[in-house]
Amino acid sequence: MHFFPLGKLAGFSAILALSAQAVAGARLLVRQNGTECSTLIGNVDAGNGGRKVGIVIDSSGSMIDNDPDDLRLEAAKLLNSKLITSAAATGGKTGDVVTVVEFSSVAEVLYPLGDPSGAVSSIDSIEADGGTFIGGGVSAALDELTKASSGATVDRTGILVLTDGVDDPSYLITDTIESIERATELGIRVSFGFLAIDAAQQDSRITTAIIRSGGTFTTLNTAGDASLFVAQALLNGLAGAPRSGPVAVLPGLKTAGLLSQTSSNTFSYMAQAGESLNVTVTAIDSIDLKVTLRNGDTNTDFKTAATDASGIAFLEHTTQERLNLSIAVTADNAAASGLFSVQLGSSLNPCTGNPSTNATLPTPTASYFPPTPTTSTVLVTGAASSMMGDSQRTILGFSLFAVVLGVLC
Ligand SMILES: *[C@@H]1O[C@H](CO)[C@@H](O)[C@H](O)[C@H]1NC(C)=O
Ligand SMILES: *[C@@H]1O[C@H](CO)[C@@H](O)[C@H](O)[C@H]1NC(C)=O
Ligand SMILES: *[C@@H]1O[C@H](CO)[C@@H](O)[C@H](O)[C@H]1NC(C)=O
Ligand SMILES: *[C@@H]1O[C@H](CO)[C@@H](O)[C@H](O)[C@H]1NC(C)=O
Repeated sequence: MHFFPLGKLAGFSAILALSAQAVAGARLLVRQNGTECSTLIGNVDAGNGGRKVGIVIDSSGSMIDNDPDDLRLEAAKLLNSKLITSAAATGGKTGDVVTVVEFSSVAEVLYPLGDPSGAVSSIDSIEADGGTFIGGGVSAALDELTKASSGATVDRTGILVLTDGVDDPSYLITDTIESIERATELGIRVSFGFLAIDAAQQDSRITTAIIRSGGTFTTLNTAGDASLFVAQALLNGLAGAPRSGPVAVLPGLKTAGLLSQTSSNTFSYMAQAGESLNVTVTAIDSIDLKVTLRNGDTNTDFKTAATDASGIAFLEHTTQERLNLSIAVTADNAAASGLFSVQLGSSLNPCTGNPSTNATLPTPTASYFPPTPTTSTVLVTGAASSMMGDSQRTILGFSLFAVVLGVLC
């Protein structure tokens, strides 16, 4: 068990709920529930198995308000359904194993590492109550994923965390960072889907640690986007050696990136003919960025923008044909390094392929989705996803302030 030492901070959940509602008003796409994304997830190539996967789910009290319909549980079940059971491990496929961990003030292994076929009832049993100790959840999953009988770990193990994102009390952040760094040392990718918390609000050490693990830091606009996040994680590969290729992004999510002196960051999206897209890149650290939209199939540039005085670069593009849209982010000053976020907007609902406007556009087929990337080497790539206006930032800032007050009281 991974205990946190203080009692629950009352009031936090109510305050965070206010933030979540405010953020929900700013969302790009209308998505009421998580099941819509089953079409998209069904079409993602989930690979050939042989993985060890940890599903780590926030069951803190704030989830009652932030995810009243338990859409993160739906997303977790969609992910589990993409894993290969021992019964389905035929024709060159190998079975996956999964563990399910819930955490609030304490972490609990609900489903010890085993066949995905038995995990659903454990996911369904998750309720919401108590504080938020994210590192406890990651750490419990790590123990399970590396236990003696479980075989090799490096490059075949991944952890997905679904949370509303802030350790409570905040000094637990140190444990969370250490847990993610331990995962990285073990060759385990850790991806986080943060409900409403983006990289500008998160402790930068957490964002950096997640990206260095090879996973993504993704901000979810609404609880329903948990399924979209699962799709993104599948597209990027749940486990594997560090990547050098692009990070897959999907409209409606905001993904964090980390730029170093030695790397540019590339993000990719399979766009359909006639899809109207926009890209917002926001510098989180104070770095001047250049963003290039490119046809990744032909390596032809569409357009370029630089970050403005407020650190934002914005580009719009309507595709003429189905193509692999590539978003390259580089620093103006080659010596610069730091965090940024990438957010894609689309005229299509990425879950259903249906236009959110009335334009007549094709429905995606299986070939719409790129194959799961094979392993290679990513120095630093990552993605975090969210959408907030200034008013939401103010409210969130107030929430964090109130949390600090809560700690003091
Ligand atoms: C959820 O989405 C599916 C697919 O779009 C739809 O059929 C269903 O009615 C929705 N459920 C709710 C509760 O909105
Ligand atoms: C998309 O384009 C990028 C950049 O050229 C490339 O690295 C990536 O492999 C391409 N993805 C697919 C699915 O073709
Ligand atoms: C980006 O595209 C989305 C979807 O079409 C749209 O709702 C949003 O307003 C666009 N963002 C900006 C800043 O124009
Ligand atoms: C889209 O189609 C619906 C149903 O036909 C219609 O009510 C709505 O006004 C249309 N919206 C636009 C922007 O044309």
